[in-house]
Amino acid sequence: MLPALIAHTTLWPEALNAFFVRAPHMASSESPVPPIDWDALTFSFTETDRMFVAHGTWEDGWSEGEMMDFQPLTLTPAACVLNYGQGLFEGMKARMAPDGRITLFRPEMNARRAAEGSARLVMPEVPEEMFVDVVKRVASENRRWVPPNGRGELYIRPIIFGSSARLGVAPADEYMFVVFAVPVGPYFKGGMTPISLRVSQDHHRAAPGGSGGVKAIGNYAPGMMPSKKAKSEGYSEIIYLDAVDHQYVEEVGAANFFCVRDNVLYTPELTGTILPGITRLSIIELARSIGLEVKEERVDIDFALECDEAFCAGTAAVISPIGSIEHVERVVNYGDVGKVTLDLYRRLTGIMDGSSEDPFGWTLEI
Ligand code: PLP
Ligand code: COI
Repeated sequence: MLPALIAHTTLWPEALNAFFVRAPHMASSESPVPPIDWDALTFSFTETDRMFVAHGTWEDGWSEGEMMDFQPLTLTPAACVLNYGQGLFEGMKARMAPDGRITLFRPEMNARRAAEGSARLVMPEVPEEMFVDVVKRVASENRRWVPPNGRGELYIRPIIFGSSARLGVAPADEYMFVVFAVPVGPYFKGGMTPISLRVSQDHHRAAPGGSGGVKAIGNYAPGMMPSKKAKSEGYSEIIYLDAVDHQYVEEVGAANFFCVRDNVLYTPELTGTILPGITRLSIIELARSIGLEVKEERVDIDFALECDEAFCAGTAAVISPIGSIEHVERVVNYGDVGKVTLDLYRRLTGIMDGSSEDPFGWTLEI
């Protein structure tokens, strides 16, 4: 077997990767570098080595589950998730610290949010301990796919869904908890290059009483058409306003919205229609810890357009500065990355990737 030294060096001859990447699972510390140009990573799918699958029922709870090589799942065409969208997903990242440690960021928060979402979608909750343990195992067994420090992350995708057949609209009898992982780069092209957004005039993401506050899989497909249209017209993403007044900012595609005015940080309050982002919460806690005033309240789009800085935040998006917003006839330019945005970005990513202290105890070594 190869010495651990070879992992994450460029000394490994490229030609051998083709063989090793398809080879059966190897102890991660002895695995060669995968055939990936870390600097060309985007937020897109790459098949990795290992995944986890567990089965659950209402009566017996969750099976212990098993780690296996990455492979397709077998599902009945009548599966509740395929017909009625009974399912949710989570998104989290494993990062390599400068000293080679691999850490997760607040995985227990994802576990809690998944449990709350499962209750909303009438699915058995995965216990927090099991959720975190499985995520650690998936990161660990795909260790060679974790990009070197500062060059990307291993995005971990837990999914929970109704897997048994159901013809009438009702919860499934059987469920699956699956976790896989993918190495990723920036969600928006250019990373910290400010993005251009357009406020959607025709579509809303979620309505009061709906499922906007949980990561239900069904929340995402309806956003594809407006998002695709905006992208084809040169915008990076759309901003959704609330569905009642069409006046208050909700989210930026699949990320939370922040703006800064006179050194005060504003973000839409959680009303049930907005996803309670873990990055959002961390930014609020971090900002308050450095003495920045934070207001969680309804953010009028006209107020947001008068702000000094704006950015969006999420696991995939991290902190992405907003350069301009188009709303009806008006286009507002915020200019280059603002100083509050940059300061929060540096502090947060420093904690996340282990290049600075973690006074909050947010990171968990795998
Ligand atoms: N809003 C939506 C709709 C999302 O899908 C996400 C991504 O998870 C977020 C916000 C950001 O949440 P988090 O910071 O937990 O990734
Ligand atoms: C995340 O940030 O983890 C998301 O889920 C956003 C998107 C990829 C759906």
